[in-house]
Amino acid sequence: MQHFQFYNPVKILFGAGQIANIASQIPQGSKVMMTYGGGSIKQNGVYKQVVKALSGFEFVEFSGIEANPRYETLMKAVEMVKRENVDFLLAVGGGSVIDGTKFIALATYFEGEDAYTICTQGVKVQKAVPMGAVLTLPATGSEMNNGGVISRESTHEKFAFSGGRHTFPCFSVLDPTVTLTLPKRQRINGVVDAFIHVTEQYLTYPVQADIQDRFSEGILHVLVDNGMKYIDNEEDMDAAANVMWACSMALNGLIAAGVPQDWATHRIGHEITAIAGLDHAQTLALVWPGLHRVMAESKREKLLQFGRRIWGVDTVEEAIARTEDFFRKIGEGTRFSDYPQVENPQAVIDEICRRFETRGTLLGEHADIDYIKTREILQGRL
Ligand code: NZQ
Ligand code: ZN
Repeated sequence: MQHFQFYNPVKILFGAGQIANIASQIPQGSKVMMTYGGGSIKQNGVYKQVVKALSGFEFVEFSGIEANPRYETLMKAVEMVKRENVDFLLAVGGGSVIDGTKFIALATYFEGEDAYTICTQGVKVQKAVPMGAVLTLPATGSEMNNGGVISRESTHEKFAFSGGRHTFPCFSVLDPTVTLTLPKRQRINGVVDAFIHVTEQYLTYPVQADIQDRFSEGILHVLVDNGMKYIDNEEDMDAAANVMWACSMALNGLIAAGVPQDWATHRIGHEITAIAGLDHAQTLALVWPGLHRVMAESKREKLLQFGRRIWGVDTVEEAIARTEDFFRKIGEGTRFSDYPQVENPQAVIDEICRRFETRGTLLGEHADIDYIKTREILQGRL
């Protein structure tokens, strides 16, 4: 096992009705800014519950944070935070709203020309507006980590950032009943995203980290066992609760401690979203089988362990094929041809490889996935 420090201060309020308890988590006398997306929270009663819970606070609202949140939109929220003297942010939504709110929290204290350098150059900001979250879509784990991913409309870029200890939410509400209104597409996306978060931290090379491996395998089994039930039956609250907690556990630092990490599927996926607009999890399901085939040799031992312990199969190829079958069975496309809205996939591949060549990008746990390997991975996904 490698050396590590583990720190996760996020307080979780789990279960139906927990939104009512947020007032006691926010410092008395705070001026709150509630952030949300395109309005799903007004249709499913979450907005009403939050407004009721905030009745003892002065608060303002910032809505319209889009899926794959945009820098341009978030900077308008930063102006509002400053103008209104906001001192607590409450994100109510999925990964996009929570990520966007973390960025607002940091960008408020950013000094300099271009706050997007927080993402592109990893510029560190030493202070952030404190925030909490009410999660409405189990998927990203953003509710229990300090990272985010922000898109820039003007340049078609999408880059991740981490705010260190400043962007962990102080608390997150995980109420599985809020998933009742989720469209199927978002349910499928959530299961795939969490599954691949686990594999990014698990399918590398062995370092005898038994706890991390067994936790990872546990999360994968829970997603496989509950995924279909959660996707097909919105009334199944046991499945929703298990998927919700699995998604948070998949990316809260626990299984990352002391092990090598990959993240190449994510980095390539972010480019596909930035250029072609596919949902985050759709890009992951598309890249994953290709990446694991091309990198099979260096991932061989962990792929065999994964195959045996998750799918009960004995070869690397079967382990990859069974995983792709799982994505397809729950309804996620795994090839460009499954997404006819991408009119020219070859142009998307060419542009990604051009960007990686220009940037000198090297991905994966061995930093050996360059633009040439990226092309090999993606050409197999047409
Ligand atoms: O905007 P509204 O109207 O709220 O609708 C949203 C949105 O259209 C809707 N939705 C959310 N909760 C709902 C609901 N509809 C009905 N009922 C509900 N209860 O779902 C749509 C998608 O929401 P979004 O927040 O975009 O989805 P997700 O949670 O999958 O987040 C994706 C974003 O997170 C980033 C991705 O790159 C992407 O930008 N990620 C963040 C990570 C992190 N912070 O750790 C890690 C991930 O790997 C990922 O990269
Ligand atoms: Zn993800």
